[in-house]
Amino acid sequence: MSSRGNPLHAACYADDAVQRTVPIVSNVPIAADTFRLRVACPEIARRILPGQFLMVRLSGCNDPLIGRPLAMYDVGHSLPDVEHAAPGDVSDPDSRREPPRTLDVVYLVKGKFTQRLALMQAGQLLDIWGPLGNGFPARPAAHLILVAGGIGQTPFLAVAKEALGLQRFGATSRPEARADRVTLCYGARRADLLAGLDDFQQTGVQVQVCTDDGSRGRQGLVTDLLLDALPADVSGVRVLACGPEPMLEAVARIAGQRQVPCEVSLETPMACGIGICFTCVARVRDETGQWDYKRTCVEGPVFDAEKIVW
Ligand SMILES: Cc1cc2nc3c(=O)[nH]c(=O)nc-3n(C[C@H](O)[C@H](O)[C@H](O)COP(=O)(O)OP(=O)(O)OC[C@H]3O[C@@H](n4cnc5c(N)ncnc54)[C@H](O)[C@@H]3O)c2cc1C
Ligand code: FES
Repeated sequence: MSSRGNPLHAACYADDAVQRTVPIVSNVPIAADTFRLRVACPEIARRILPGQFLMVRLSGCNDPLIGRPLAMYDVGHSLPDVEHAAPGDVSDPDSRREPPRTLDVVYLVKGKFTQRLALMQAGQLLDIWGPLGNGFPARPAAHLILVAGGIGQTPFLAVAKEALGLQRFGATSRPEARADRVTLCYGARRADLLAGLDDFQQTGVQVQVCTDDGSRGRQGLVTDLLLDALPADVSGVRVLACGPEPMLEAVARIAGQRQVPCEVSLETPMACGIGICFTCVARVRDETGQWDYKRTCVEGPVFDAEKIVW
C-alpha cells in the first residue's frame, strides 16, 4: 500500500506537500487586525483545494521556530507588480483557464507569528509547505450553507467560487461540486473584524452577518443565522462550518437535529502540519461508533460533524 493510502504512515496525505521559500507579493490590511497575504508559488497554487491549508514560517528566522497553519483563501493567475498587487480577481474571464500562480491567505493578528507577519512587505521571503490536509470534499448541493465564526471564513471563498463555477481548483479530474445557491452565515465580535465581505458578495454568495455587539448585521450568534437560513425542506442542503470549537459543536448539533449533512473544519493548534508530532489530534468516531485520535493536519482538518466527539 502506498504511504498515502495508509493512515498509519506518519506522512499520510502530506506526502503530496512541497516546501518552498517564496516571495511575498502583497500583505495588506483588509479589516481590523486582519491582513490578506499573497505569495508567489505556482507549484502549490495549481494543486491546492478548497479547505486545504499551508504551514507558514518567516524565512531565515527561528523565532517563532514552529510554522503556523493558514487556510488557502484564494489563488490568483497573474504575478502583478509587487507594489500594486490588488487582491481578488473573481471576474477575470481567464481565471478558469490559466493554472494559478499565486496563493492568498487571510490572517488575524493573534500572537508572535502573526504580529511579525503583519510587518512583512512585498519582496520579503516566507517558507511555506503544502498543500496540506484533506480539504472539503467536492459534492454538489442545491443550497450550500457556509457557517463561519471569527476568522473561520477564510476557507470559504474558494469553496464558494468552486461551487458557483467561477474557479476550478487542483487537478482537472476533481469532480464538479456545483451548488445552485451559496449562503455565508458569518459572525464576528465587531463590525470592523468582518473580513472579505466584498469578496464573497462579488462571488455571488448571499451573505448574512451577525456581530456580538450588534455593530453590523444581527446582534447574536451565527447559529441564529444558520437556523434562519435552513429551509423547512432541507433536501439538497449541505452545511460547512469553520470557527471556534464551541460554535462548531453548536452547528453540528443543529445540523444533526435537522438531518442536514454537515462537515466542519477544525482549527486545532499544530506544530508540524505533516502528520508526525500528533499535537493536532481530535477525537473522531469510525463506522462502528468507536472513537480514536485523528490528526487534524493529515486526516482533517475537515471532518464529518457527526463523527466528532466534542
Ligand atoms: C487548518 C488551520 C487553518 C487555519 N487557518 C487560519 C487562517 O486562515 N487565518 C488565521 O488567522 N488563522 C488560521 N488558523 C489559526 C492560526 O494558525 C493560529 O491562530 C496561529 O497559531 C496564530 O499564530 P501566532 O503565533 O500569531 O499566535 P500564537 O502565539 O500561536 O497564538 C496566540 C493565541 O491564540 C491561541 N491559538 C493558537 N492557535 C490556535 C488555534 N488553532 N485555535 C484557537 N486558538 C489558537 C493560542 O493559545 C494563543 O492564546 C488556522 C488553524 C488551522 C489548524
Ligand atoms: S501537526 Fe504534527 S501531526 Fe498534526
